[in-house]
This record gives sequence, structure tokens and C-alpha cells, in this order.
Amino acid sequence: MAFLIDGKKISAQIKDEVKETAAKLKQKGVEPALAVIQVGADPASSVYVRNKKKACEYTGIRSVSYELPEETTEAELLDLIARLNADTSVHGILVQLPVPDQINEKKVIEAISPEKDVDGFHPMSVGALVTGEDGFMPCTPAGIIQLLKRSNIDIDGRRCVVVGRSNIVGKPMAILLLRENGTVTICHSHTKDLKEICKEADILVAAIGKPKFFNHEYIKEGAAIIDVGIHRLGGKKLCGDVDRDDVMDIAGAITPVPGGVGPMTVAMLMVNCVEAAQKQTGVKAAE
Ligand code: GUN
Repeated sequence: MAFLIDGKKISAQIKDEVKETAAKLKQKGVEPALAVIQVGADPASSVYVRNKKKACEYTGIRSVSYELPEETTEAELLDLIARLNADTSVHGILVQLPVPDQINEKKVIEAISPEKDVDGFHPMSVGALVTGEDGFMPCTPAGIIQLLKRSNIDIDGRRCVVVGRSNIVGKPMAILLLRENGTVTICHSHTKDLKEICKEADILVAAIGKPKFFNHEYIKEGAAIIDVGIHRLGGKKLCGDVDRDDVMDIAGAITPVPGGVGPMTVAMLMVNCVEAAQKQTGVKAAE
């Protein structure tokens, strides 16, 4: 029977660590602050934004909220980002994606100062991720590394298979696993023999975006399975990319949906915010 990796518990520990760091920074006169920008009122985005603001409140990070109308122009959004880049009381800037069609997402990502890029989406952050230099790591893959480490699942030397190649999850996930000395394979919609490749994985990261796609035929005995998918089946029930009931007897460890990867994304955003505040002010919580 697979061990359940408790993302709720691990994310709570991380948020408590951030809370301590934020409190120490405040004692030293620095109040970490995150600007959260949402353009339009996409219901899923609203839920994510609300969770991020709630986590700020819990950890003691000041959140500055910008809820802009659907018809906001690209120039207006870029102007707001420029003002926030220049505002020394704001340490992190997050624009919730997707943005409406009239706004070029790439331009928005590139407009955010890399120093304040707590999502880790700026090309400078991506470059630093690949070369192993200092920079912000994207929150979902960084959260998955924490789930593995804090569950004592070794990455070093082991076979890791990432299914999915998005800029937000698949690609950075593969790089982070590589940085931990994993032997990494990236699979995607054109991959042949997907089952056979997945069956070799000691660590399988499922980010294919199809509900309950991975059953026992894809899983090696004792593998750790990280399920990044989140889908709402008929009614209210949530499920992931993995058919959990079907793999429970063969896997060694698995993240549940909900309560696995999801809460980690927000926790790692908080980590990036206190790090941003420390780097920009030169004030360190630990000294
Ligand atoms: N949309 C979906 N995931 C994310 C994320 O991690 N950050 C932002 N800004 N938008 C998203």
C-alpha cells in the first residue's frame, strides 16, 4: 500500500517557517510585501489569487491587491508593473495567468524585474535555473522537490520521468530533478512507448492534464508518484492525472489530489517572497 505524501502538512510546515522569517524581518524594520495582480474575473484564477492572499495573511507578508477589469490594456498593465518595479516597499510581483487576449503574456512576464519575479517565469530566472545560478525557482516544481525531500525520497542517481513539457511545470521540473542528480526523461504527447518509459521511473511526475490517465500499467513497483493534475469530475469530486485507487497497491508513495502538490505551490511562493525581501533590502532574518 502506497504511503500518502501529505502536501497539506508539509506546506503548513513551510508556511510556519516563512512566518518566523517574516516576523524576524519585521523586527529588523523590513515588511515583506507581494503585489498580486489579476486581470479579469476568471473563476479559477480568483480561487488561486484568494489562496495566495490568504497565505500572505497567515505568514505575515503584506499583500497589495490589484483587481483590474477584463478590458485593461497591455499598456495599462505594463505601466502598473513599471510602477511596482520602482516601488521599494514591494518585493514580489505576481500577475495571475492567463491574462485576457488583448495582453501579450510574454511581454508581461518580461516586464517584471527579475529581482521581483517570485513566480520564476522571467527568462533571467529560467536561465539561472538551467545554469544552476541564484534565481527564483518556479513554485510548483520547487514545491515538488520539497515534497520529495521532506518525505525522505532520494532523487540522487534515480530514474525520474516527467510527463508534460509546459514552461510552468514540466520543463522546470526536469531541470530541478537534474540539479538534484536525478536521471531525467521528459515525455510528452509525441512520446512513443510511454507506458514502458513510465514503468522504469523510480519517481514519476504526472503532468499530462488528463484525468486518471495513469493506471497500474504505467507504474514500477515501489515508485514515488507525484500527481500534478487537478480535474473536477461530474459533481464536485476532484481527481488528478493518476488513477489513485488502481495504483495504490503497486506504488511506494503518492501525492493525493487534493492535498498533494496544490498547497505546495502557494507555500513556495511565500518562500520566494521572503527571499526577495531579504535580497532587495540586504537585511537577513538569520543574522
Ligand atoms: N496560473 C496558473 N499557475 C500559475 C502560477 O503559478 N502563477 C501565476 N502567476 N499564474 C498561474
